[in-house]
Amino acid sequence: MKKQLLALFLCATHLLFAQKPFAYKVDKTLLKTIERNFIDADNQYKLLMKNLPADKFPKTYASATGQYEFSSSSWWCSGFYSGTLLNLFQQTKDSTLYKEALRMLTLLEKEKLNTRTHDLGFMMYCSFGNADKTFSKPEYKQILLTSAKSLSTRFNPAVGCIKSWDSKPSDFLVIIDNMMNLEMLFWATKVSGDSSFYKIAVTHANTTIQNHFRNDYSSYHVVNYNPQTGAVQQKKTAQGFSDESAWARGQAWGLYGYTVMYRETKDKKYLEQANHIASFILNNKNLPVDKIPYWDFNAPDIPDALRDASAASITASALLELYKYVDAKMALQYVSAAETILKNLSSSTYKAAQGTNGGFIIQHCVGHMPNKTEVDVPLTYADYYFVEAMIRYKQLAAAQK
Ligand code: GLY
Repeated sequence: MKKQLLALFLCATHLLFAQKPFAYKVDKTLLKTIERNFIDADNQYKLLMKNLPADKFPKTYASATGQYEFSSSSWWCSGFYSGTLLNLFQQTKDSTLYKEALRMLTLLEKEKLNTRTHDLGFMMYCSFGNADKTFSKPEYKQILLTSAKSLSTRFNPAVGCIKSWDSKPSDFLVIIDNMMNLEMLFWATKVSGDSSFYKIAVTHANTTIQNHFRNDYSSYHVVNYNPQTGAVQQKKTAQGFSDESAWARGQAWGLYGYTVMYRETKDKKYLEQANHIASFILNNKNLPVDKIPYWDFNAPDIPDALRDASAASITASALLELYKYVDAKMALQYVSAAETILKNLSSSTYKAAQGTNGGFIIQHCVGHMPNKTEVDVPLTYADYYFVEAMIRYKQLAAAQK
C-alpha cells in the first residue's frame, strides 16, 4: 500500500512539474498553403523529371534562356533531388516520385566510396538517409555506413576537423558548411556501435566553435589550418562578399549544424551556439521584414542586393527543430520567424508558378556570387529544405492536438 501511495505521489508531482509542451496557435491558413505546396511541388518535380537526362542530376535552370544545368553524381548536391522526391512522396503518396527516387539512388550509390569530398553527408544522408527512414533496409544502412567511413578518412586529429576542400599540401581548408555533414556520423555510431564516428563529429564541431565564429556569432566561411600543427593560418569567406562579411547561407548552415549537434549530444554548449547564431540572423538590421536574407548580410548594395531563398529555407527548417529545445518565449520567436519565412517562400515571389522554373519549386537563390555562377536561380537544396521545413511545421501542428 505504501509503495502504491509513493508511486501515486511521484506520478502526480511528475504531472505537476513536468515541462509543459510548447503550446502554439498554429496558423491554419499556412497549413492549407503547405498542403497546396506539396501538390504543386509534386507536379513541378514531375516536370523536372521529364527534362532530366537519364544519367544526370538536376543542378539549376535559367528561366531567361530555358537552359538546364545538370551534374554527375559527384557534385555536392546530388542527394537533394532524391531526398526531396522521397519527402514529397511521403506527403502525396505519388508512386511516380518514389520510383524516380529509387532510380536516382541507384545512380548515386557509387559515391559511398568517394573520399575526395567532405560533402558525403549532404549527398548520402539527404538521399539514402531519407530512403532508410522511409523504407528501412539493410542495404541502405550498409551504403550509409560505407559513406560515413569514407567521410571519416578526411579527419585530421592534429587539426581536429574533417578536411573540406582539397588544396595545396600546406593548406587544410574547413568550411562552415561542413557542419551539415556530421549528422550522418551520429547516425553511423548509433547503427554500428562504433563511437569513432561520434568522436569525429564532436571534435569537428568543437574546433569549428573555436575558430569559425566572430564575437557577434557570425561565421567565416573558410578557415585554413596548418595540417601538421592545427594552427589557424587564415580566415576567409569564399562564397560571400568579403572575408569579414556574413555570407547568408553560411550562417544558415551553422544554425542547422549546431541544432543537430545539440539533438545528438544534448551538450548545452551546442544549444547556446545555435541560439547565438539564430540571434545573429533574426536580430540582424540587414534581415528584411519578410526574413528572406540578402545573399550576404553585408552585401554592398543592400537594399537592392539579391536575396538567397536557399538560406531562408535552411533557416526555417533549422528553427523548426531548434524551438523544441528552448523556453516558450524563444520557441515562440523561432516558430513565428519560421512561419514568416514559409509564408513568403510560398508567395508568388519565391514559389514558382506551375510549369515554370524548369520544375524546381523555389526561385531566387544565389549559389556562388563571387564566381558569378548560380545567381538568382532555383537550387536543389532550396527545394529540399523548404519541403523539410513544411514537414516540420506540419509535425509541430500535429503535436498541438
Ligand atoms: N558550399 C555549399 C554551399 O554553396 O552552400
